[in-house]
Amino acid sequence: MRITNLSMILVALTMLSGLPGKGAENETGAAPMKAMVAREYGSPEVLKLEDVPRPVPKENEVLVRVIAGGVNPVDTLIVSGKYAKEFGTYLPLTPGYDIAGVVEQTGAKITKLKVGDPIYGYILWGGGFAQYDIATEGEVAIKPKSLNYEEAASVPLVALTAWQALIDAAKLTTGQTVLIHGGSGGVGTMAIQIAKARGARVIATASTANQDVLKELGADVTVDYTRQKFEDVARDVDVVLDSVGKDTLARSYGVVKRGGFIATLVARLNQSELDKHGIRGASISVKPDANELNEITRLIEAKKIKPVVTEVLPLTEAVKALQQAATHHTRGKIVLKIAEDPQAE
Ligand SMILES: NC(=O)c1ccc[n+]([C@@H]2O[C@H](COP(=O)([O-])OP(=O)(O)OC[C@H]3O[C@@H](n4cnc5c(N)ncnc54)[C@H](OP(=O)(O)O)[C@@H]3O)[C@@H](O)[C@H]2O)c1
Repeated sequence: MRITNLSMILVALTMLSGLPGKGAENETGAAPMKAMVAREYGSPEVLKLEDVPRPVPKENEVLVRVIAGGVNPVDTLIVSGKYAKEFGTYLPLTPGYDIAGVVEQTGAKITKLKVGDPIYGYILWGGGFAQYDIATEGEVAIKPKSLNYEEAASVPLVALTAWQALIDAAKLTTGQTVLIHGGSGGVGTMAIQIAKARGARVIATASTANQDVLKELGADVTVDYTRQKFEDVARDVDVVLDSVGKDTLARSYGVVKRGGFIATLVARLNQSELDKHGIRGASISVKPDANELNEITRLIEAKKIKPVVTEVLPLTEAVKALQQAATHHTRGKIVLKIAEDPQAE
């Protein structure tokens, strides 16, 4: 994967504080917690389960007791240290950008959340692969009632990415056609459902083994990219969502109609290609957004979006989870179970 998008850099910058809760190791008197900690950069195996101090929320933050953490490819990139060379050293770090859990403590300036609230969210500072994490009110929303914590933890980062690409950037509307590359992955499974809820016609790509999930999620046309060129099926589309990059992006300019839009998650767009085809585009950098997460909650509660959780692993198996995420061939999402679901207690 080409790591040229701003989002990754933004995420990398947010890691400058190391462990969750910014300077958590230096807090005195804080109760201990278990966390997956990287003290050196490298492959997922550098992550070790450690006892570290619980982070302490500032006045505009809440402390969340994490029940489940969603795994994303970005976790592997941050642990690999690819951004460290550009931005300096900020070890130790705890990855984990998606959490679902219960508000344990609120800072003095918190107005919307209270202790005991079940929440989920995309945490820009990471730190979610731990028993406790810090969040702001702008990052989290009340967890959908119809989802358990593991399902909820699989949603925020990928759903917000799909939303910000298709709705905010591409302005996808009813009746338009969208080509979604990587439709069976974390972002793709959300993008198909968000596009269908918007009233769009969806063409989605995946390998042979994942054709069924594309159909189950409502794709109107499916393409097995291992057997068929998407250009033979998708022509004059209004929008492309690219989560693959390289050759896939290079071949996508030609399938968009004039005035159409390409949103890529993984690359810089080629302006001369955009100009040549009379189209526009954007490289997406996903941002936490509690308001948009509330919109996503509404679609979940209306049964328009259902999470695809392929595997739930204990926190102690975070290394295995990140190894799978690094393959870029995950079906739906992997989630780490960090505590027992309080709804099931
Ligand atoms: N810029 C941002 O803000 C942002 C936000 C989120 C994610 N991302 C990036 O976007 C990418 C996708 O994220 P994700 O969470 O969806 O990853 P993921 O869960 O690993 O899914 C990737 C999907 O891509 C499919 N795929 C792989 N090669 C393909 C190809 N040549 N053509 C079509 N599909 C292909 C895979 O399906 P098969 O197994 O069937 O091949 C897999 O389902 C990652 O690189 C991630 O880092 C960026």
